[in-house]
This record gives sequence, C-alpha cells and structure tokens, in this order.
Amino acid sequence: MKKVHATATPNIALIKYWGNRNNELRLPAADSLSMTLDRPSLTLSLEESDQFSLTSFLNGEKKDLKPEDQRRFEHMINLSRRYLQNLGYKKPFPRSFSLEIQSAIPPRIGLASSAAVFAAFAKALSTFAEPERALTDAEISVLARFGSGSAARSIFGGFAMMHAGSSDDMASAFASQIANEQHWPLHDIIIAPSHDEKKVGSTEGHALAQTSAHFKERIKQIPRRMKECTDAILKKDFEKLQHMSEEDALDMHHVMETSTPSLQYLTDETHRIIKEIEDLRSTDHLEVLYTVDAGPTVHLICTDAARPTIIDYAKSKQEKGCTVFKTQIGQGAITIHQ
Ligand code: PMV
Repeated sequence: MKKVHATATPNIALIKYWGNRNNELRLPAADSLSMTLDRPSLTLSLEESDQFSLTSFLNGEKKDLKPEDQRRFEHMINLSRRYLQNLGYKKPFPRSFSLEIQSAIPPRIGLASSAAVFAAFAKALSTFAEPERALTDAEISVLARFGSGSAARSIFGGFAMMHAGSSDDMASAFASQIANEQHWPLHDIIIAPSHDEKKVGSTEGHALAQTSAHFKERIKQIPRRMKECTDAILKKDFEKLQHMSEEDALDMHHVMETSTPSLQYLTDETHRIIKEIEDLRSTDHLEVLYTVDAGPTVHLICTDAARPTIIDYAKSKQEKGCTVFKTQIGQGAITIHQ
C-alpha cells in the first residue's frame, strides 16, 4: 500500500483572515497575507486504508482526539474528492486513509498548528491524484483550505496571500506566493505566555465574525491594507509593513471582541508584551512589529539587525514562565518521500 510523508510549518498572518462568506466550504470573506515560518514543524504520514483512522502525537506523546477532530479530516477528504472530480479526475483518491501526525506545535494557543496540519495533509493527499495529473500548488492550496483557511498559505514558502474570490464555487479561493523565502530574511520570535488551550477555536470564531457591527468596515479596509502590505514586502519597507500589519491585527481583535458572544483572545500578559515592545522600539528604533492570532501568543517579527535585542527581551519573558520559539521565514510544505 502506498504511504506518503509530508512536512509543514505554521504561517503568521500580516493581514488576517477572519470570517467566511461560506463556512462549509471555508470561502473567506476577504483576502489575507502571511509569512511562512521554518519551525516548529510537523510530519504527517498518509496511507491508503479501508477504514479511516487518525493518530496524533505532540512531542512524542499520544493525544486524545475528539470525534469532531476526525470529522474535520473526513470532511476535507470529501470536499477534495468533489473538487478534483469537478476538475476532471476520474478516481482521485482511494476509498479511505490512515493518518499519523507527529507534531512539535502546541495546539490552540495562537501558533497556527492547524495551518501546518492541513497544509501537510493537502500536500500528502495530492500525491494520490498524481497518476492522473500532478496538481499545481494553487490547486493543493484549495485542498488545504477545505481543512483550515490559513493552511492554504502554508503550502508556499516566503510570503503568500489568499485570494478570497467572490463566487460560491468551491475553487474560487486559493493561495499564491508573493515572494520566496530568500527575498527578505525576516525572523519571528514567538512568545507564548501560556499553553492553556483556547475555548473557542477559529472554526467557531469565523462563524461569529458577522455578528460584530465592525465586521463590514473591516472587510472594506482590507483591499487597501493588502496593497500596502504587498508593496512593503516587495520594497522591503519595514516601517510600512509594521503600520499595516499592526493596524490589521488590532482591527481583527476589535471584531472578535465586539462579536456576540465576545471573543477575548488577548490576555493581560499579551497587552504587557505589546506595551514593552512599543517602549523598546521607541527608545532603540528597532525594526520589530508585533502581531497576535487567535490566542494570547505574541509574534515579534523583526529584521536581522533587531533580532539580538528581541532575543534578549524574549529570554527575560522566558525567565518569567513564557515559552519562546525562535523562528524565521521558511520554505513551505514539502512531501518527504513516497
Ligand atoms: O485557518 P483558521 O480557520 O485556523 O483561521 C486562522 C485565523 C487567524 O489565525 C486568526 C488569522 C490568519 O489569517 O491566520
């Protein structure tokens, strides 16, 4: 029986994806943009099987999975099969699969573990359709999106964007690369104040976005921010990147906090870190920006020149109980061997 291994890493969004126009197909309400990281990573092994099975390990320890975890993978397989049949594939996949995940990414703390999981899954899954025709990376990103919207961007290395599209066609949203990992070697020093898993995951969170009175205004602002952010990346203009991405991150949290029920992902420690970085930046003129996904974890994206100071700062937080991940821009999801 054929067995495939794929490895993938999280990405950190600079223009955030929050809210769908179609929750079932994970068709996003707006474009988004991110930087793919080089670690922490996970490896997913996929084997043809008569019955679906899923086993997952976090740092070597077997995880207890809920029935909905399994359903999410099966849903992704079903949507992917439908999508490939629409593209003309006769028999894209075998009847079912057995999956094993070996991960070093703590889940549900704002570290995009699901982006890495579903990017690796899409990459591995796509190899089963190869005998008919190899999928393009944009097509693989559609498969990844069926599992987790942000996973579409982790297919690519460097800087990637999600094109939201506008129709109800399941293929209308896909990711593409803006610049590869050699273009601008930025770092992301990640400070996780806690490993407590969030109570409301992003799948449920996206479905609440429309309940915020601020959501429509956010969607209106995104094309401008996407343009500015893309320009900043292409021109390596850190100051512009900082302004756009911080504005967007705070704006997304405003939508979350004004949703019904209100989603509060930022903790006192998150706010403290942001304030300390703003102070450090104003005295040392450092090229560092902060951003936060759906969790209390703070991502400090910085240039080579700013990295030593940010590492020293992160060490001081580590001494106070935070977990630190030192990452940099990465190469995207890969298939290891077949
Ligand atoms: O891909 P999801 O459904 O886990 O949503 C990701 C949402 C954010 O991480 C908050 C933003 C983003 O664009 O990655």
